[in-house]
Amino acid sequence: MARARWRSTTAAACATCAAALLLLCIGGFSRADAAGDSYSDLVTQAKPSHVHTEPLAVPSKTLMGPGPSTAHPRVLEAARLPLLGHLHGEFVKIMGEVQEQLRYAFQTQSRYVLAVSGTGHAAMEAAVANFVEPGDVVLVGVNGIWGERMSDLVERYMGVVVRMEKEGGKVFSGEDVERELTKEPKIKLVFLTHGESSTGTLQPLEGIGSICKKHGALFFLDTVCTLGCVPFNVDKHGVDITYSGSQKCLGAPPGASPLMVSSAAMDKLQSRKTKPFTYYFDINLLGEYWGFKDNPRWYHHTGMVSNVYALREALSILQDEGLGEAWARHREAAERLWDGLERMGLELFVEDVNERLPTVTTVKVPEGVDWKDVASHMMRKHKIEISGGLGPTAGKVWRIGIMGYNAAPQTVNRLLHALKEALDLYGGSFAKKEL
Ligand SMILES: Cc1ncc(COP(=O)(O)O)c(C=O)c1O
Repeated sequence: MARARWRSTTAAACATCAAALLLLCIGGFSRADAAGDSYSDLVTQAKPSHVHTEPLAVPSKTLMGPGPSTAHPRVLEAARLPLLGHLHGEFVKIMGEVQEQLRYAFQTQSRYVLAVSGTGHAAMEAAVANFVEPGDVVLVGVNGIWGERMSDLVERYMGVVVRMEKEGGKVFSGEDVERELTKEPKIKLVFLTHGESSTGTLQPLEGIGSICKKHGALFFLDTVCTLGCVPFNVDKHGVDITYSGSQKCLGAPPGASPLMVSSAAMDKLQSRKTKPFTYYFDINLLGEYWGFKDNPRWYHHTGMVSNVYALREALSILQDEGLGEAWARHREAAERLWDGLERMGLELFVEDVNERLPTVTTVKVPEGVDWKDVASHMMRKHKIEISGGLGPTAGKVWRIGIMGYNAAPQTVNRLLHALKEALDLYGGSFAKKEL
């Protein structure tokens, strides 16, 4: 009798074990899953087929397109530092250092400098959202995609765009700007792109700030592809609003975009009839976090801690080298590139050397050559990135970036050799000359 009871208990236990084993086999049953089971109603999406337990790995590439550019190893090291709270005293001190360094990079005494959370577009949109009120007339220089994009942004914020157009590869003169300002006295802002990365032009700035001032307009400049690489002085050039990017000339990761505002522009902001139609990018609120006023720091949104570390390191490298020296290094590297390209028989898209952007060179793709074959070979074989055209130059040019860490003779030489090899393979009937 006892034996029979034992047998049936054992059989029941075995059945339970077998069922448990079955579950284990079918469902990968574990303690964690058991705990998670109580939430099974809410976990309806299966895990990805591969759970990445190995550390993330990415290949190392030389980024010589229009951006991002290769970051300096010191900058990447800084980005790995432990997180601080974005209102911790140590972090607020770093923010203050970044502002000092940005004043140096921009060459301005303006108090109103900060880094906007987001890429260049974020700083661009922040500028428009704050300084363009509904009905404001804005003169936009359109000689590539950045003028086009600015026109779009201004209209989204209900400004009125007056387009001043030039074909891709050409720049605006002081006379062009003066003519438009005389024709339309209601213009409140004049927008130009210092480095037009879609066409490869460098906009001369001499005299434009004072023309704007004479006509009561603010001078609004995109310096995403020039800050830190190309001679520029906000105060001397009379610029009122300018934004840049971290991932181009400064060689930091994308995500913390410098913005500078003059006191004249701040006055315009204070006299707005309506609040800016943006909370995230409201410069008055951002200014309270970045210390524009002497108020205690205030939580607006979580500061991008690691990006600010990286930007601080990139700006320290720039300060250490010296702005004049950095400008000269970029110029020399660009001239080395232009010379090498011309010796290969290639033609540069921007003919006038004084209007050519040293940081992004546009090179005409020769007849019968597919730009993608060449760029793909350079990536496949040499891990060097160059890119194709954009907007008015799409399909017509390669764009080669010489920015920050990559503005070095050996890097330019490496690029020229890789390009020559690619052209030998994919250049078809293109007449190749010796380097
Ligand atoms: C001249 C110029 N302005 C603005 C931008 C936009 O910057 P981001 O792509 O960082 O948003 C770029 C990016 O290539 C640029 O070259």
